[in-house]
Amino acid sequence: MAEKRSVCVTGAGGFLASWLVKLLLSKDYTVHATVRDPGDDKNAHLKKLERAAENLKLLKADLLDYNSLSAAITGCSGVFHVASPVPPSTVPNPEVELIEPAVKGTLNVLKASSEANVRRVVFVSSGAAVSMNPRWPKGQVKDETCWSDKEYCRTTNNWYCLSKTEAESEALEFAKRSELDVVAVCPTHIMGPMLQSAMNSSSLVLIKLLKEGYEKLENMIRMIVDVRDVAEALLLVYEKPESEGRHICTAHMIKSQDLVEMLRRIYPNYNYPKNFTEGKEEEKLSSEKLQRLGWSYRPLEETIVDSVESYRQAGLLD
Ligand SMILES: NC(=O)c1ccc[n+]([C@@H]2O[C@H](COP(=O)([O-])OP(=O)(O)OC[C@H]3O[C@@H](n4cnc5c(N)ncnc54)[C@H](OP(=O)(O)O)[C@@H]3O)[C@@H](O)[C@H]2O)c1
Repeated sequence: MAEKRSVCVTGAGGFLASWLVKLLLSKDYTVHATVRDPGDDKNAHLKKLERAAENLKLLKADLLDYNSLSAAITGCSGVFHVASPVPPSTVPNPEVELIEPAVKGTLNVLKASSEANVRRVVFVSSGAAVSMNPRWPKGQVKDETCWSDKEYCRTTNNWYCLSKTEAESEALEFAKRSELDVVAVCPTHIMGPMLQSAMNSSSLVLIKLLKEGYEKLENMIRMIVDVRDVAEALLLVYEKPESEGRHICTAHMIKSQDLVEMLRRIYPNYNYPKNFTEGKEEEKLSSEKLQRLGWSYRPLEETIVDSVESYRQAGLLD
């Protein structure tokens, strides 16, 4: 019999999952937190979270090892499937390094959840599973009916986008053919302070804007959302009985050059990009569905300032 307030979070040591675990503990949930290596220092921050001593169980699980996932999920009434590879750049063997853990890992989590009679699974997808669709009408805001085109992802070598699109569509198909309740959240680029010590790919983008001194950078549109607001969105869709299907989770749209100007105004002394080339216009994504459920987000400047302060404290900008 599942304990009412016990939930499992996969990939708990990562950037987003760490904030989710912190939020769940603060709301008195007991958290079964899966990591690949509970003894690794990179997961030590989880044990230091408030209420971790009483309510956090750190469990070893790999996405490709069904039994380890099943053991972690048993006894939980909810699952937050956050784990998925997020490489900072291209990988030599995307089928093995990206697609397999994302897709097979998701199916393992769903099967284990179904067998454990889990009430609801929240699947962390991505804006990458929404936006790569060349057939979407130009200028029309992308909502939850827009899916990235798998063939287009493959032919343009967007393997991360493909991994998230395949995993999310498999998750929602699994829900249709079983009794399992699965809801998905699709965040765009996540920024914000880091709780974990290991660098994650989306934080690295901001750190590089501050440090790298690029000669030239594409002035592309960035769709940014704060890591703490994404954690709140995940809990919201878990707790609201009426949530169903997918939910785009995005807050601010800003061009790279404007983001750099905002950073420069607050922190004048970093090594910013020197020139910008014009980037292609990308269509807008809408989070209206999530906002109708009651989700809101903080101002971009707060995200930026809190991020930079956390990098400074961790010595990442020295
Ligand atoms: N950050 C963003 O901008 C962004 C935007 C949209 C969606 N997302 C999604 O949000 C989720 C979390 O991303 P993040 O930014 O927090 O990245 P992250 O810090 O790199 O976290 C990814 C987590 O997945 C785990 N993982 C990877 N492969 C695994 C495997 N085979 N078995 C078990 N665990 C595995 C990693 O564990 P190890 O530490 O052991 O490698 C890590 O804890 C992902 O699903 C990602 O696709 C992120």
